[in-house]
Amino acid sequence: MLKLGILGLGEGRSTMSAALNSPKVSLQTICDRNEDLCRHRVAEFQFQGRVTTHYQDMLEDPEINAIAIYTPDHLHAEHVKLALEHGKHVVCTKPFIDDLSKANELLALAEQSGKKVFIGQSSRFFEPMKRQRVDFEAGLLGELITIEAYYHADHRWFLEKGWSLENAFKWLYGGLSHPVDFIRWYLPNVEEVMGYGMLSSNGAKGGLKHQDTMHFIFKTTDGRVARVSGAYTGPVQPVTRDSEMSCILRGTEGCSQGDYMDLRYAITDRTGEERIVTWEHKLKHYFRFEGKSHHAGEYQNYLEYFADSIEQNFTAYPDIREGIGTIALLQAMDRSLQTGQPVKVRDVLAEHRVTI
Ligand SMILES: NC(=O)c1ccc[n+]([C@@H]2O[C@H](COP(=O)([O-])OP(=O)(O)OC[C@H]3O[C@@H](n4cnc5c(N)ncnc54)[C@H](O)[C@@H]3O)[C@@H](O)[C@H]2O)c1
Repeated sequence: MLKLGILGLGEGRSTMSAALNSPKVSLQTICDRNEDLCRHRVAEFQFQGRVTTHYQDMLEDPEINAIAIYTPDHLHAEHVKLALEHGKHVVCTKPFIDDLSKANELLALAEQSGKKVFIGQSSRFFEPMKRQRVDFEAGLLGELITIEAYYHADHRWFLEKGWSLENAFKWLYGGLSHPVDFIRWYLPNVEEVMGYGMLSSNGAKGGLKHQDTMHFIFKTTDGRVARVSGAYTGPVQPVTRDSEMSCILRGTEGCSQGDYMDLRYAITDRTGEERIVTWEHKLKHYFRFEGKSHHAGEYQNYLEYFADSIEQNFTAYPDIREGIGTIALLQAMDRSLQTGQPVKVRDVLAEHRVTI
């Protein structure tokens, strides 16, 4: 049983819903330094457990064996570190960290403590993406040729959060960590990346400091290529036409596409048969709140997978090493935006003396 404490109750709301609906998780405590938000969440879920505005209370609580972290991106490293130092397993939302300079310390702490660190790359845990993976592993596409993944959303509402307008916030990490994780899931050995980005006039008007519109191409050690894109401050297509976040796999004998919105999946497999699958009956599991702005089903899927990994002693992926690999790639992408040049991931890792 995962005896969980949740830190950060914005997106942590989805994790509360996930934990409270799961037989594998016991939600012990919720924590946010914003007292009003704590009260709001208690009322929303009629939560009976403990509530605190001090992270330290959860760290010192022997009844908690795992902490799930949903604080702003630039605070994750410190919050993960504290959890490990206090002997807790960790679930950390994406992006795991935003700077490789903190990677070695966290790797060492995870090793010393013997505690598990799982990265909440929620998009992997949506129904279409899970099916896409199963079909890929079953060989329905033959050999993988290339991947295209993207995440395009009108996230102007996000600019109301103060930290999104700070210099530390980058859509590169906050948004592109989703499609970049898809790329690394299928092609872990990305060697080099090249990309262009810009800050749109909508983003500049909203007060964003960094690029909100980006296109990248990747090359792997075995010569395959892939691409991702992200655009965050303008209107998007209706979901019947597009899906905001998609992953397309093109193989020697088939092709598949997982669409996150509307839970849609399409495949042409090695038999030549074309299928489109939807999961109407699971929409309520994934999208539990108003509209589709928050979603919780994939959080429940990953919390249960993580609970199993502790009980049955296996590694839940993405683990800390995979998470750091994705940050290394994002950091290489960041450098490519700054320099206008292709950047090798191994150079970025070497600068920080990180081995994964
Ligand atoms: N699909 C996903 O996986 C997904 C979706 C949205 C957000 N996120 C991630 O979740 C994280 C939080 O994003 P958000 O949209 O909820 O932001 P938010 O600003 O709404 O929430 C963050 C909360 O953390 C609290 N907080 C900050 N420092 C704290 C501290 N030291 N102690 C206690 N509470 C503290 C703040 O008071 C705030 O309520 C980000 O890293 C974001 O990238 C993930």
